[in-house]
Amino acid sequence: MWDAIWIGGRLATMAANSGAPYGAIENGAIAAEAGRIAWVGPLIALPGPPESLARKVHRLDGRWLTPGLVDCHTHLVYGGDRAQEFEQRLEGASYAEIARAGGGIVSTVRATRAADEDALGAAAKPRIEALLAEGVTTIEIKSGYGLDLDQELKQLRVARRLGESLPVTVKTTFLGAHAVPPEYRDRDADYIETVVAMMPVVAASGLADAVDAFCETIGFTPEQTARVFEAARAQGLPVKLHADQLSDLGGAALAARFQALSADHLEYTSEDGIAAMAQSGTVAVLLPGAFYTLRETKQPPVEALRRAGVPIAIASDSNPGSAPVTSLLLMINMACTLFRLTPEEALLGVTRHGAQALGLGASHGTLETGKVADFAIWDIERPAELAYRVGFNPLAAKVKAGVAL
Ligand code: NIG
Ligand code: FE
Repeated sequence: MWDAIWIGGRLATMAANSGAPYGAIENGAIAAEAGRIAWVGPLIALPGPPESLARKVHRLDGRWLTPGLVDCHTHLVYGGDRAQEFEQRLEGASYAEIARAGGGIVSTVRATRAADEDALGAAAKPRIEALLAEGVTTIEIKSGYGLDLDQELKQLRVARRLGESLPVTVKTTFLGAHAVPPEYRDRDADYIETVVAMMPVVAASGLADAVDAFCETIGFTPEQTARVFEAARAQGLPVKLHADQLSDLGGAALAARFQALSADHLEYTSEDGIAAMAQSGTVAVLLPGAFYTLRETKQPPVEALRRAGVPIAIASDSNPGSAPVTSLLLMINMACTLFRLTPEEALLGVTRHGAQALGLGASHGTLETGKVADFAIWDIERPAELAYRVGFNPLAAKVKAGVAL
């Protein structure tokens, strides 16, 4: 006997090779047992009356059920805010200028260092809850505002704790190479050696599921990034990269060389970088909230990514500077409006491909037997509505590991 079954709705399975748009099953049924999907298919194919197969029968009344959404790139554990920097940018300063003047990421580092774990958790909770209220069931959280061993571990511990106290799967990423901390000013090579030295401790702590870096003119060089990636590889940690956001430093190709799970941003990525990503199976994570906030004008190479068959994910990049964003539905809309993704591509970006960008492709992101039973249930007539509306949340209910929330 299954624990529960959902019937009378339409399922956007997002499964590959289903043939139907969105992998849709009209009048579908989906059952959960011990937190996993035990059965999924058309209602008429059920091997008996639903009441005889499951202890609890939920009726969807024609609603759409999708995989729980995945936000595969966030920096949402931090202290303070950067509203002042927003005002500076409105007066004409650029993101890079503010960073070079000692503001930007480094100002959030000061505020994050000053906050204890409880304060950081309390500040992050409403941000994560805003995402969860829109159907998110899996989220990635990066460190990168501590920039010394203890402070980075503090951020990662807060991220893990959020995953324990809220109905969300949290994947953590060590982003020690996010910026040069004030005490290493003009000594970026020394700081990179410090990050390399942190790696075994971070790995042994079990607090990081992956390693990321900011490869950029205002971040770290490709050579420095490679140093960090080698250290990650030595510890068996997968890598991801903030690549080609403000200029083309060959970040995408570098990420691919290290079999990165994902390369993120990619506005300035070249054809070579895309070919390398296709080869290595690296997911392209597009971040329309940062593009929008920074009023970037260079479009990420969506058509070339499509042609090369690189899976495209969409994420919030939730952070206090370049993307003060706590809505993944808005990111789906922006991915379509700003980057010309189709609504189906955008939804794939926050389900199957988002899961793949976190190394969770085998267990999350689609409605398929054996995967974790994380669902979002929507009051919509067609899946494109998730991309079409701006600032409206049609979530009707959520299911986390088979449990209706
Ligand atoms: O993804 N580019 C680097 N990191 C973040 C921004 C972090 C910040 O501005 O605080 C990003 O855009
Ligand atoms: Fe980011």
